[in-house]
Amino acid sequence: MKKMKKLYLALMTFALVFSLAACSSADSDSGGSGEADGVQELTIKISHVVAENTPKQHGALAMKEYIEKESDGKIKVQVYPNSQLFGDKDEYQNLVANNVQFIIPDMAKLVGNDPGFNIPSMPFLFKDDEAANAFWDGEKGQEIFKRLEKDGVLGLSMWPNGAKHITNEKKAIKTPEDLDGMKIRTQGGQLLEALYGDLGAGSTSIPFGELYTALQQGTVDGQENTFSNIESKKFDEVQKYMTVMGHTRVDYALLTNTKFWDGLNDETRKIIEKGVEEATKVARDSAADLNDEALKTLKDRGQVEIHELSESEIDAFKKHLEPVYSEWAEKIGADIIKDAESKSK
Ligand code: LMR
Repeated sequence: MKKMKKLYLALMTFALVFSLAACSSADSDSGGSGEADGVQELTIKISHVVAENTPKQHGALAMKEYIEKESDGKIKVQVYPNSQLFGDKDEYQNLVANNVQFIIPDMAKLVGNDPGFNIPSMPFLFKDDEAANAFWDGEKGQEIFKRLEKDGVLGLSMWPNGAKHITNEKKAIKTPEDLDGMKIRTQGGQLLEALYGDLGAGSTSIPFGELYTALQQGTVDGQENTFSNIESKKFDEVQKYMTVMGHTRVDYALLTNTKFWDGLNDETRKIIEKGVEEATKVARDSAADLNDEALKTLKDRGQVEIHELSESEIDAFKKHLEPVYSEWAEKIGADIIKDAESKSK
């Protein structure tokens, strides 16, 4: 009789454990939130390093507006510009830890994660924002984003800022030789380091939030950036010369993390996905206009002497940088670069 009781108890315990296990796997199928229906109540943080009057902030605010409205306020979106929450050095690790749900780094800051993110630094590769957008929306660009999944990071979209131009404190740069001996701040190492090395210049990467002070104190002689970044951070206050060159680009990766993403139910995820789509449109539509306006403001302020390279002057830079281009085309992958080149034809 005792034996029968023991057997009965064992069977009951097994049945209970089995049904609990079945329940918890049903929960994780619905997104792991345990809340299968209805928009989830959430607070989402978006962190970035640039100023307000930039395509990145315009995109981030569009995302906030869409998501808060469509979720009837159930989802709150907090946007932190100007490295207020996290800066270049710590935003990626905090994304991985889900301390922030979206970051939008310049791809040059992701080259340590994957060499494909050197693409915006390939000299004179894309002719305009549309060519860059087309590459990152396409198969090869998406492949590069996918490589971040090993870190638990998802690349949702590419936002352009635009072509970069060099500012410096020493002299007007008109030829490749003019850079000889200068020390230039870049966004990241690898290809940008090789590019300046080829031009006889030293380079070092400094977080964007520390760049104004570095230029002011002469830690570096110059830097390269888009007009909207130069203008909105007032680098013309601490730099004498600007060369309109367009040799490299600032393109962003809008990133989230799988911890956050996989915890969303379908209804919530759909709103956020649509918010990302809307924000991408706004960021893409505003980038070129903001750069045009910023160039005009820089001219009006008149603090920096501007030299616009002629076509033949640009050709001299292209020629000088050919070996760097070939070397990095091989490092990134000939098929990828061929695809990228095809977008400018
Ligand atoms: C920079 O560090 O110069 C830029 O990448 C900043 C940015 O995010 O546009």
